[in-house]
Amino acid sequence: MNRPKPTSLGAGQDTADRVRELLSRMTLAEKIGQMCLAEGGHDHPPAVLGDDLRNGSIGAVLNVVDVEIVNELQRIAVEESRLGIPLLVGRDVIHGFKTVLPIPLGLAATWNPDLAREGARVAALEAAKAGVNWTFAPMIDVSRDPRWGRIAESFGECEYLTSVMGRASIEGFQGDRLTDTGSIAACAKHFIGYGAVESGRDYATTNIPDTELRNVYLRPFRAAAEVGVGSFMTSFSDLNGVPGTGNRYILSDVLRDELGYGGFVVSDWDSVRQLKIHGLTENDRESAYTAVTAGVDIEMAGDAFGNHLLDLVEQGRVGEAQIDTAVGRILSIKFQLGLFENPYTDPGHLPEMASNRALNTARDAALQSIVLLKNEGGALPLAMDRLRSLAVIGPLADEAYEQLGTWVFDGDPGLSVTPLQAIRDVVGDRVELRYVRAMANSRSRVGDEFDEAEKVAGAADAVLLFLGEESILSGEAHCRADISLPGDQVELVRRMRLTGKPIIAVMLAGRPLTLSNIVDDVDAILFAWHPGTMGGPAIADLLFGREVPSGKLPATFPRIVGQIPIYYSQKNGGKPPSTETVVFIDDIDAYAPQTSLGMSAFHLDTHFTPLFPFGHGLSYTEFDYKDVRASAEEIHPGGTITVSAELCNRGDREAEEIVQLYTRDVAASITRPVRELKGFRRVRLGPGETTTVCFELNSDDLSFYGQDGKRTVEPGLFHAWIGGSSDADCRTRFRIVA
Ligand code: NOJ
Repeated sequence: MNRPKPTSLGAGQDTADRVRELLSRMTLAEKIGQMCLAEGGHDHPPAVLGDDLRNGSIGAVLNVVDVEIVNELQRIAVEESRLGIPLLVGRDVIHGFKTVLPIPLGLAATWNPDLAREGARVAALEAAKAGVNWTFAPMIDVSRDPRWGRIAESFGECEYLTSVMGRASIEGFQGDRLTDTGSIAACAKHFIGYGAVESGRDYATTNIPDTELRNVYLRPFRAAAEVGVGSFMTSFSDLNGVPGTGNRYILSDVLRDELGYGGFVVSDWDSVRQLKIHGLTENDRESAYTAVTAGVDIEMAGDAFGNHLLDLVEQGRVGEAQIDTAVGRILSIKFQLGLFENPYTDPGHLPEMASNRALNTARDAALQSIVLLKNEGGALPLAMDRLRSLAVIGPLADEAYEQLGTWVFDGDPGLSVTPLQAIRDVVGDRVELRYVRAMANSRSRVGDEFDEAEKVAGAADAVLLFLGEESILSGEAHCRADISLPGDQVELVRRMRLTGKPIIAVMLAGRPLTLSNIVDDVDAILFAWHPGTMGGPAIADLLFGREVPSGKLPATFPRIVGQIPIYYSQKNGGKPPSTETVVFIDDIDAYAPQTSLGMSAFHLDTHFTPLFPFGHGLSYTEFDYKDVRASAEEIHPGGTITVSAELCNRGDREAEEIVQLYTRDVAASITRPVRELKGFRRVRLGPGETTTVCFELNSDDLSFYGQDGKRTVEPGLFHAWIGGSSDADCRTRFRIVA
C-alpha cells in the first residue's frame, strides 16, 4: 500500500509552513480528530481503536506501553488513514519508567537540578523504548498542604525550588532537541492552583487572589513556558469559581497573552465533561464549547470534543480559525518530535531498561534526597566496628513495591533493592542481624508481634525501625486528614523505647508527616520519602556512614495537622508571634498569651514554629555560617548585588551542604513574605575547610507582581540571609534606590 504523504514539505522546512500546508489539506473532521486523546490501555488497542485511527478521529493515545502495539497503532495511523498523521503516545512517566527514582518530592529534597535533569533523561530513554513520545510530567503545582496526596508528585512548597526543578526535568525529558533519540515531549501540569485545594482534599476548590497566583503558583509555569515545554495540562480544580478546564482567563489571557505560550493544552482526564458536574455547564455539548473557547486544544479520555465540536463549528458557535489554531499547535509538536519522518520505535536503538546509567542515577538521587531530621548524640552513622547485633524492625524494611511510591505504572518492583537486603549486604556476617516485621502494614492495629519485636530489639546493640506510609497512602485522590504515623506505629516506637537501645527511625513516606508524638522517643530520624528502585542501598550507605546525608526539606513539617497551612514564606501579619510575646508553660507543653504582650498570631495548644522547617536537614558534620555580606549598601533598578557568606565544615567528614539564600522585601506596596528563597547551591567541603559562597542577585530577582498584575521592582530596604535552612539567622541588608 502507498503510504499517504501528509505534507510535501520535508524535515528541513519551516515547521510553521509544514503545519499550514497540512492544515490546508485537512477536513474539519480530521482536524477535530487531532484534538481527541483516547485511552488505549485496554486489551487489544489496535482492534478497539483501529477504525477511529483509520478515519482520523483520534490524534493521540495514552497508556499503551507495549512497543509492538504502539508501532501497530502508528502503522494504522500513518499507513491507513487518509493523511497519515502520526500519533502522540502519552503516559504518566512521573519519576522513572522501569527504573524508579525517588518521588518528585524526594527529588526536590536533593535540591539538585542536575539530578532532576538526568533523572528525567533516563526515564525518557526507557519510556521512549516502549514507544512513548509524550509524558504527563512534570507536575509543578506549588504544594503547601501535606494532607494533599499529590504533594508526593510535587517539588514541594516553594515556587522558586519548584521552578528550578521543574525546568530541569523538562530539559531532561525533552533533551537538546525533541528529535533526538529518547527525547519525549513534556507536560507542565496542572494549570493552575491545583496544589491549593481546600483542606488538601484532591479535586476540591481553590481560591487564589491574582497577586498570589502570579507571585507563587504561576511562577513555575512561567519557567516551564520559557524553557519550551511541549504541552500544558489543565487542572481538575475550580479556581475562583471557574474550573481549570473551562477557565478562559487562565488558559487564554494568562497562558497565551501574558506568558506567550505557543505549545498545546490538554485537558486532564475527562475534565471537559466534568464541567457539567462542577455546575458550569448543563450538558456535554456546552462543556465542549466552554473548554475549546477557553483554550483547551486536546480532550483527554472523553468524547465531548469528538461528539460536539463539528456541530459547534457548523453552527458558527466555534470558529474554524479557533480549531485551526488548536490543531496547528498539536501538529507543530508532532513535527518537532520528528514523528512524520520516524513514526516507529526501534527499541534496539535505545539503551536497555534499567541500564547502569539509570540505576546509578536512581541511587544518587535517593542518596541525595534522604533528609537527616534528627541525630541525637551522634546516633548515626552506625559504627560497624562496635556493632555486634542489629535489630531491623517495621513494616517498611523489605517492601520492594512500596518503596517505589505513587505513579509507578511501569515501575518494576523486581528491580528494587530493599533496605533490608542492602543492610544485609553491608553487614554480611560481621553483625548478627534479626528482622521482625512487627506489623502487616503501616495501618495495622494488631500488635501481636510487638512482644517479639521488643525482645529482638532488647537483645540488639541498636534498632533500625522502618516506619511511615505505603505508596497507596499518597498520590492522586489519596489524601489524609491525619498525617501522623498511621496504625499502631506510635505504640511500636514506644515499645522500642522501652528497650533502652539506640533507636534509629527510617521513614518512608509520600508526604511530610507530623512526628511530634514520636520525635523524643527516637535517637535519629532519616526521612527517605519513597526512595525508588535503589532506595535500599542509599539508606544503607547513609546508616553506616559510607555516605553523608545531604538532603534538605522541600516542605515544612508541621508539629500537628492543625498548624496547616504552615510554610516558610508566610506573611508576617500585624501581630506575629515570637518568644517575647508567647509564654511557654513548661509542664503542660503549651504556650499561653496570658500577658499584656501576648496578643499574637498562634495556636494555644502548640508551638508557633513547625517541627522541622523548610530547608532543614542535618549532616554527619557541622557547617557554620558567618560573615553574611552584601557587596554594596545600595543597588539601582537593573543593577546587581552579590550576597556572600563564609561557610566552614567544622567536623571531621567531607560532606555536601545545600547553602540557601533568602531575602525579605521589608516594605512594599503589597505585603511580601517573611522570607523568599532566591538561590541555593550544593557545596562540598573537606574536614575543617572554609569557603566563601556567593550569590548574585539582580533587581529583577527582587521583583514581584503588584495589584495591577504588572511586575515591579520597588525601591526600599531588603534583608538577606544565607544559611542551611529557612530559619537561618545570619543576615545582611541592602537597599534598592530609584
Ligand atoms: C489524571 C491526573 O490528574 C493527571 O495528572 C494524569 O496525567 C492523568 N490522569 C493521566 O493519567
